[in-house]
Amino acid sequence: MSHTPNVGTSTRSLHADDVLNVVSDVAPPMHLSTTFRYSDDPSALIPAADLNSSDIDPTNHIYSRASCPNPTRFETILSALLNGKAISYSSGLSALHAALTLLNPRRISVGEGYHGCHGVIALFTRLTGLQKLDLDCSPDQLEKGDLILLETPLNPKGTAFDIAAYAEKAHSRGAYLIVDSTFAPPGLQDPFLFGADLVMHSGSKYFGGHSDLLCGVLATQRDDWASQLFQDRVFLGSVMGNMESWLGVRSLRTLEVRVQRQCQNTARLVAWLHAALHAPTPAPASDEDAVQAVLQEVFHASVQETEGDWLAKQMPNGFGPVFSITMKEERLARELPGRLSFFQHATSLGGVETLIEWRTLSDKSVDRRLLRVSVGLENWEDLRDDLVRAFRGLAGL
Ligand SMILES: Cc1ncc(COP(=O)(O)O)c(C=O)c1O
Repeated sequence: MSHTPNVGTSTRSLHADDVLNVVSDVAPPMHLSTTFRYSDDPSALIPAADLNSSDIDPTNHIYSRASCPNPTRFETILSALLNGKAISYSSGLSALHAALTLLNPRRISVGEGYHGCHGVIALFTRLTGLQKLDLDCSPDQLEKGDLILLETPLNPKGTAFDIAAYAEKAHSRGAYLIVDSTFAPPGLQDPFLFGADLVMHSGSKYFGGHSDLLCGVLATQRDDWASQLFQDRVFLGSVMGNMESWLGVRSLRTLEVRVQRQCQNTARLVAWLHAALHAPTPAPASDEDAVQAVLQEVFHASVQETEGDWLAKQMPNGFGPVFSITMKEERLARELPGRLSFFQHATSLGGVETLIEWRTLSDKSVDRRLLRVSVGLENWEDLRDDLVRAFRGLAGL
């Protein structure tokens, strides 16, 4: 089957790369070569200076810092999933680095979000004098060519922002909007529908999906930006490895079903926690009593108070598989992970296994009572029961 834009997310994940099937293997092979033989036919030899971008053949490769089969296959599927031309990188942060290199803004308006992105911005501030503005700065502070970097849903809380409102703000000043959509992969959110100029993902999370590869992705609907990003990457050198992109293709095949199940689990867990936390006068020693003894607050887009219907429009299929909680005291946050059986205490997110992190271990900027949960594919009742046992233990019930 060849790819058509009208098929569903899982069908794209499984067939968008059919055009690259140059061998009869059903499972795509892994190619390790860094260099590729030129044609024996002298008439097929085109000097680099005479090539233009329309001549580029995705089955023809020269040197792997420019392109090679496994990353190209990964990008072909991602382009179909993201509704733009996708370019892959060695990590999410190298994707952000490439985006800032492309646009070289003088100002960047950015909120809290993933602390590593602020590290990349700090590098640019050192090199170019890039000035950082608050996400909710006045539009007058932005000028042509500046940038809004919007992370939604937000790391670590899992709460969401209105993409269309930030797109309008950026565009009213001739600035651009990048959406870091790591927490809402395709199937959950398409930032281009709401005006994003560039979409970024840490593919180390849901695209990889098994906590075993690092990668980053940028997608754009502008051909000029796509070809500049591609050329820049040759010199930034931040390409994905063959092993990672081979694993990435394997993982994309199941993206939609993984994320759907992770979202369902999350919605159930968050709804249960939220209801238990707000239950009026719980019976002594009940599960709700244990929850209320130790838990302070639950954060997730599904329990977020918003004005208007933008959130339901932006995320019609679920609100993402990451949420956060704050405990009543720092000590309780430190102790909770060690009492859980099915939540592994580790950073990162997006894998098939559920993770919990006492977030202050890796992020200096957060409330020390905060724990981030990345929900996996376990049966949600087992995750709930695990939490109940741990909360009861902490509450001495
Ligand atoms: C929202 C977000 N953006 C970017 C990144 C950076 O991605 P990577 O670790 O693949 O460089 C992360 C990593 O956790 C993230 O959560």
